[in-house]
Amino acid sequence: MITNTELEQKGNAFPSNVISFRKDVDTLYFTTENDVALQITILRDGLLRFRYSTTGMFAKDFSYAITKYASIGYNQLDIEEKEDCYTITTSKIICEVSRKGLLIKIYDKADGSLINQDELGFHWEESYEFGGDIVKMSKVSHDGESYFGLGDKPGHLNLKGKRFENWVTDSYAYGKDTDPIYKTIPFYTGLHNKKAYGIFFDNTFRSYFDFAQERRFVTSFWAQGGEMNYYFIYGPKMTDVVEYYTDLTGKPDLPPLWALGFHQCKWSYYPESKVKAITSKFRELQIPCDAIYLDIDYMEGFRCFTWNKEYFPDPKRMVKELEEDGFKTVAIIDPGIKIDKKYWVYKEGLENDYFCKRADGPYIKGKVWPGECYFPDFTNPKVREWWSGLFKELIEEIGVKGIWNDMNEPAVMEVPNKTFPHDVRHDYDGNPCSHRKAHNIYGMQMARATYHGVKKFSHPKRPFVITRAAYSGTQRYTSTWTGDNIANWEHLWIANVQVQRLAMSGFSFAGSDIGGFAEQPHGELYARWIQLATFHPFFRVHSSGDHGDQEPWTFDEDITDIVRKFIELRYQLLPYLYTAFWDYTERGVPLIKSLVMFDQEDVNTHYRIDEFIFGDSILACPVQEPNAKGRRMYIPRGEWYNYWTDEVVKGGKETWVDADIDSMPVFIKEGAIIPKYPVQQYVGERKIEEITLDIYYKKGKEDSQFFEDAQDGYDYTKGRFCLRSFKLTGRKNQLVIQQHKEGSYESDCKIFKLQIHGLPFEVKNIQLDNETKSLEQLHSNGCLTLMIDENFSILDLNGENEE
Ligand code: NOJ
Repeated sequence: MITNTELEQKGNAFPSNVISFRKDVDTLYFTTENDVALQITILRDGLLRFRYSTTGMFAKDFSYAITKYASIGYNQLDIEEKEDCYTITTSKIICEVSRKGLLIKIYDKADGSLINQDELGFHWEESYEFGGDIVKMSKVSHDGESYFGLGDKPGHLNLKGKRFENWVTDSYAYGKDTDPIYKTIPFYTGLHNKKAYGIFFDNTFRSYFDFAQERRFVTSFWAQGGEMNYYFIYGPKMTDVVEYYTDLTGKPDLPPLWALGFHQCKWSYYPESKVKAITSKFRELQIPCDAIYLDIDYMEGFRCFTWNKEYFPDPKRMVKELEEDGFKTVAIIDPGIKIDKKYWVYKEGLENDYFCKRADGPYIKGKVWPGECYFPDFTNPKVREWWSGLFKELIEEIGVKGIWNDMNEPAVMEVPNKTFPHDVRHDYDGNPCSHRKAHNIYGMQMARATYHGVKKFSHPKRPFVITRAAYSGTQRYTSTWTGDNIANWEHLWIANVQVQRLAMSGFSFAGSDIGGFAEQPHGELYARWIQLATFHPFFRVHSSGDHGDQEPWTFDEDITDIVRKFIELRYQLLPYLYTAFWDYTERGVPLIKSLVMFDQEDVNTHYRIDEFIFGDSILACPVQEPNAKGRRMYIPRGEWYNYWTDEVVKGGKETWVDADIDSMPVFIKEGAIIPKYPVQQYVGERKIEEITLDIYYKKGKEDSQFFEDAQDGYDYTKGRFCLRSFKLTGRKNQLVIQQHKEGSYESDCKIFKLQIHGLPFEVKNIQLDNETKSLEQLHSNGCLTLMIDENFSILDLNGENEE
């Protein structure tokens, strides 16, 4: 055990005794003999913010992560001054602050159990080189405690026993142990005694987290500058922790529905004839697809906001023709602006002083695809406004539907640290600073400016943006992908872990480069990857193009058929996914949930990695090795229907599941009602007048929802949506489905095709809205099909004849 004295000898300092305390509305202020100040703000009953200063003074409070729309307000706040500590009591927690050393302990108010406790607590080391402090926090790691989160880290889901760094980094062909990579999300969830809490360390400097790696019973985090500024979020449910964190750092708007369809990308499809050949092939082979991407070669010498007129003589016409065929064009835009006196973007940036500079005045010059570039300072609001405006032509005039922001770490080639030097200056929204502080949010601010531009010029439609680099809160503006992965089985595993981890870090709209970016997969790996990604919120094939093609028809016909089958399944599930997305935008509920989030009470889930829940009711588990005929997997507690066979499995155990190359383990939770569209080649291809509801019988009750709107535009924010809440009640001889509708959107749907799975009785009597009906009953494979008016309120299926 390291003692304070040993650490002091290593240059660390600690808060001494409290000499003053005061309270101002929702904030408590403590100061110590050695000028340490601590502010504790009570934001919600289970959400406290801790801010420490080593000089007794605080710098201006500013954060790129926290949204002004965060829900704030508590039900109870009692403060007690005791002999050795102060206690803060809300309706959910009791927080103790010791008079000696400002040590924190947090208890669950309901049962008095200890949730989180400082070990050494706050301490710091003065930074001779840069000024300010290296700020540190250490907490007790309890026996059996697990840790989850931190964004896109590629290793095991449970972070215990590992140390991580947060410094947004371009990481071509990273591996399981590469750290850091593209994103910085300094938020984790701790879980012990089946209770979950979260810590969000909102500090943009290079930071570190150590989860009981250096010392077995200590978890610590620290940053190379800035403030010790963290939020403590109490669950005790893990989903609540993630929802509160997402509420604090922001929820996205609904994307256009097409963005949840299938996307095809490659570095690069050009010229126009190649793009058209690809899109036509999708239609010819009847493989649904909604988006086609243009990587850097569409530009003139890689200059952003230009077109190579040789490859793309008339982009407006091309984009329009693609759109007529159901394809939305997404184009890449990087941050580096080519140094070229004849290039209008460069000239505007220069004239307006929008590019980043070194400490002593010269511009920061770095090599990217176009050669030597200057880089806009996206941390300056004026620069962001200018940047947003640059999208007018691409979006409003040419009709491009989405923008892909890449290399925004920012990535710089041929320099050892792959990015800007530390001394580069940034505006940081009127809080001037060096790149040490702004690096981790640079990409986020670029994506933010892009989002505002795309949003403005797409109006009245909704924007679609995708980014590679991100900091906490970036989910408000864009979707994301996991960067330059490799076409091998290990990367299929990594993609699964990363997308789950991003979802539990507030960033659900994420996916991987399906098939792998570097190198080329064989057909089997490609098919298995498509299967996994069918259940990822963002569904895009992308590859570097150096090693061959990666379109669904690149391999043999069997593979094409499997890929088609799964992409079709995705299109059928669009209304289910869209409903889950709506829930994410409303409440911050992650779109996919690792098993530990789904059932934290079951300790078997704490170390599970492969299985996850898509939405609320679909359990998916990828096959991750060659030549497999199936796999063993853990089925969480409860009863589950095998999606392919309708066989019911009792969970809470590991089991073998058959899944030859054309299949994948997928289960549906009993009681679920899954809305499904017919297969379309692209979103909006046809008017959907009949929607399938797959109903999975359960003895007991279950609630579910189905959200629809115009699939794009903002009318839904004015009440023009259709939200159906279903209540299912199953008894030995009866199944009742109640529907309650809200919202003023008139769905195209006129008829529900009910497919009832696992009904344990023969239906003798049907009551629809309290009237006896003789509906045609079709039986196939143990599933009962009925067609009913979409407007029903109550459907009662009875196994007994009416008396
Ligand atoms: C790096 C990105 O990660 C990749 O997706 C893209 O294709 C290349 N840059 C070229 O733009």
